[in-house]
Amino acid sequence: MTSGQYIHGSETKQFESEFASFIGTKHAVATSSGTAALHLALLSTGVGENDEVITVSHTFIATIESIWYVRAKPKLIDIDPRYYVMDIEAVRTLINEKTRAIIPVHVFGHPVDMDPLRKLAEEHGLKLIEDAAQAHGSLYKDRPVGTLGDVACFSFYPSKNLTVCGDGGMLVTNDAGIAQKARMLRDHGRTQKYSSDEVGYNYRLSEIASAIGRVGLKQLPRWNIERRSIASHYSRLLSADDQVIPPAEAGWARHVYHVYAIRTKDRDKLALSLAQNGIQTGIHYPIPCHLQPVFKRLENSNLYLKNTEQVANELLSLPIFPGMSAEEVERVAHKVREFHEQTP
Ligand SMILES: Cc1ncc(COP(=O)(O)O)c(C=O)c1O
Repeated sequence: MTSGQYIHGSETKQFESEFASFIGTKHAVATSSGTAALHLALLSTGVGENDEVITVSHTFIATIESIWYVRAKPKLIDIDPRYYVMDIEAVRTLINEKTRAIIPVHVFGHPVDMDPLRKLAEEHGLKLIEDAAQAHGSLYKDRPVGTLGDVACFSFYPSKNLTVCGDGGMLVTNDAGIAQKARMLRDHGRTQKYSSDEVGYNYRLSEIASAIGRVGLKQLPRWNIERRSIASHYSRLLSADDQVIPPAEAGWARHVYHVYAIRTKDRDKLALSLAQNGIQTGIHYPIPCHLQPVFKRLENSNLYLKNTEQVANELLSLPIFPGMSAEEVERVAHKVREFHEQTP
C-alpha cells in the first residue's frame, strides 16, 4: 500500500514470474478471475463465432460461459465415472469440421488423462485449453497440470487451493503469441499507454491481491501435501463403510483434493444428518451444466449424460482444508459411518 501503485506494479509482475516458474511455463498473465483467464485463453487461441468447443458438463458453469463469451458453441460430454473427469473416448465422437478447441477440466484437483487427449487434439488440429481452476500443483505423470496443453487457466477464488483472498486468476502458456495477446486484451487492448489495437477488457489483477498470492504460493506445496494426507486419512477411515465410494486416484494422477467428494446413494439425507451435527458439506455440482436453465435455453438442448447425472445425485464433498486436524477428520468420518450404520 505504501508504494501507492495499486495496479500492474512490481507485485503483479513478480507473482506472474513466480507462478510461471512454479507451474513450469514460460509465461503467466495475471487476471481478475479464473473466468477472465478462460475468456482470454479462448480469444487468444482464436476461438470465435460458430466454432465448437468440447468440454465436460461436470464442471462449474464458468467453463461453459467462457465459450459463450466468444460466441462459440459448447459441446458437452460425459465423464469417466471412476475419476469424475473428461471421458476421452466421448471427445472423439463429437469432433467434426467445426470443432476448434477442447477444454479438459481437472475437476476437484484430479488431472484429466492428457496424453491421449493431446494426441487427439494434434490429429485434428485442435487447441487444448486446460481449465486448471481447481488443480494448482496437481501432476499428470509427474508433469504439472497447466503445462499440458496450449494454454491453461487457474482461479484464485477464496475456496481454491491457492487464493488471493478475493477474485483472481492466472493464464499460463509456453506460447509467446498467446501470452502477448492475452496481456494486451486483459488491459483494454492496449499496446502502449493510450494506444489500443483491439477491443479489450479490464481483466487486471490488483497489486494487493498479487502480494497475497505471492505469500500463498510459497505455502502451496505444503498445503497440497496436507490436503493429500487428510484425503488419505478420510479414505482409510471410510473404507470400512460399504455405502461410501471414496475418491479414486488414477495411475497417472497426483490429485490435490481441492474437493474431497465421496459417492453415496443416500447423499441428501447424509448431508442433513452431518449438518445436524455441525458438519458443513458441499455438493459439486447439484445441477450439471447441461441441465442448467441457461444451457437448455441457449443450446435448445435435451442432452442426457448418464454418469454426470448420476454423480450429481450421489456426490458429497466433505470438509477439507489445510490445518484440519486428525481429530476433525475422524469426527466427520465417524459421523458418516454412524449414519450408515443407523440407516442400512
Ligand atoms: C472448474 C472451474 N472453472 C472456472 C472457474 C472460474 O473461476 P473464477 O471463480 O475465479 O472466475 C472455477 C471456479 O470458480 C472452476 O471451479
